[in-house]
Amino acid sequence: MSLRIIVVLAVLCGVTGSPSVTVRPEADYAITTVHPNSVPETVEETELFEQLDILVEEEAEEDVMATGELNPNHYQAQRAAKVVQHYLNTRYGSPYRLLGLHKVHSGNAEDVADSGRKYQLEISVQETLSNTTEKCSAEVLFPRGEQQSSPQVQALCEAHLKINTTAQEEALYQRYKMNQSLLSAQYIPDSYGHIDPDMKPFWHLCIVASSFIMLNESSENTLYNMAQVANITQLATENDQLKFDCHILLHDMVSQEIIHWKLLFTWSPQEGVKVLQMEQLPHCHDCEKPPNIN
Ligand SMILES: *[C@@H]1O[C@H](CO)[C@@H](O)[C@H](O)[C@H]1NC(C)=O
Ligand SMILES: *[C@@H]1O[C@H](CO)[C@@H](O)[C@H](O)[C@H]1NC(C)=O
Ligand SMILES: *[C@@H]1O[C@H](CO)[C@@H](O)[C@H](O)[C@H]1NC(C)=O
Ligand SMILES: *[C@@H]1O[C@H](CO)[C@@H](O)[C@H](O)[C@H]1NC(C)=O
Ligand SMILES: *[C@@H]1O[C@H](CO)[C@@H](O)[C@H](O)[C@H]1NC(C)=O
Repeated sequence: MSLRIIVVLAVLCGVTGSPSVTVRPEADYAITTVHPNSVPETVEETELFEQLDILVEEEAEEDVMATGELNPNHYQAQRAAKVVQHYLNTRYGSPYRLLGLHKVHSGNAEDVADSGRKYQLEISVQETLSNTTEKCSAEVLFPRGEQQSSPQVQALCEAHLKINTTAQEEALYQRYKMNQSLLSAQYIPDSYGHIDPDMKPFWHLCIVASSFIMLNESSENTLYNMAQVANITQLATENDQLKFDCHILLHDMVSQEIIHWKLLFTWSPQEGVKVLQMEQLPHCHDCEKPPNIN
């Protein structure tokens, strides 16, 4: 338990500390063993504290999955609710609209004969860029079976997350569609947690694209967060979509693993994000070199 907490705290220091301070020495061990590339977490501070609580509870409960009414702050309800976040991002996310789990109000889990376990949740989600929250009722089914298959999600949200970002999206689209040179960037955010303002929309775009992976890969035993975009490259297209090849790092808070994925996706204001290919990459030492710091 203490190891995990050190990792979370160390990550927190990395984000909120002044640029000259990286990690405290006592955290080094945890970082290098568990977090070989000391990827910066970009989740909000409060979220990290929430996750800390979850981790503490997790150890105490030893991952025994409860049935019936759940403690809303308990890891079980939180993990299922996180899947709803990924689902909502795949549906409503954009370079200017990003949804985060704000709070779980209530949760219930039940075994569904032969098919798996179903969670019924009342949650609040936060549109992180406009800082508005709204309530959603959601159902998450984690299928049971030999082969792990993706959770099935249904969600009904109050205002249907209709923040109008049309104008900003159109401007971004035009800027990168018309540009002679193609975008190419790496380490978003950098190891101090900094994101160049011009790259923010692409960071968000990659989170949306990664939500397709995080949704697909989630189970009752995972809690995925986007950790970093190692690199993103815009590809030329014949059609009216913008196309990107990117290499992303996901963080599973439960296993403390950093998982590398390659993603090929398109985006346009009209069509939204479409993932063309996703491929999990094997752990490789070259991939885990710490980012270059300017
Ligand atoms: C977001 O809104 C809440 C209240 O609605 C407020 O307390 C908080 O300071 C806001 N955060 C930001 C970053 O604007
Ligand atoms: C989702 O994951 C399953 C394996 O769990 C895989 O077979 C499937 O291709 C994935 N879906 C996508 C869209 O990649
Ligand atoms: C969003 O705003 C644009 C102008 O910025 C407007 O043309 C469009 O109708 C709006 N869409 C919705 C759904 O309100
Ligand atoms: C074109 O792309 C380059 C490289 O991505 C960028 O520096 C420049 O600002 C872009 N030009 C415009 C007009 O947006
Ligand atoms: C992207 O980053 C990964 C991991 O650091 C690296 O293996 C890969 O070569 C990079 N690709 C490009 C095009 O920079």
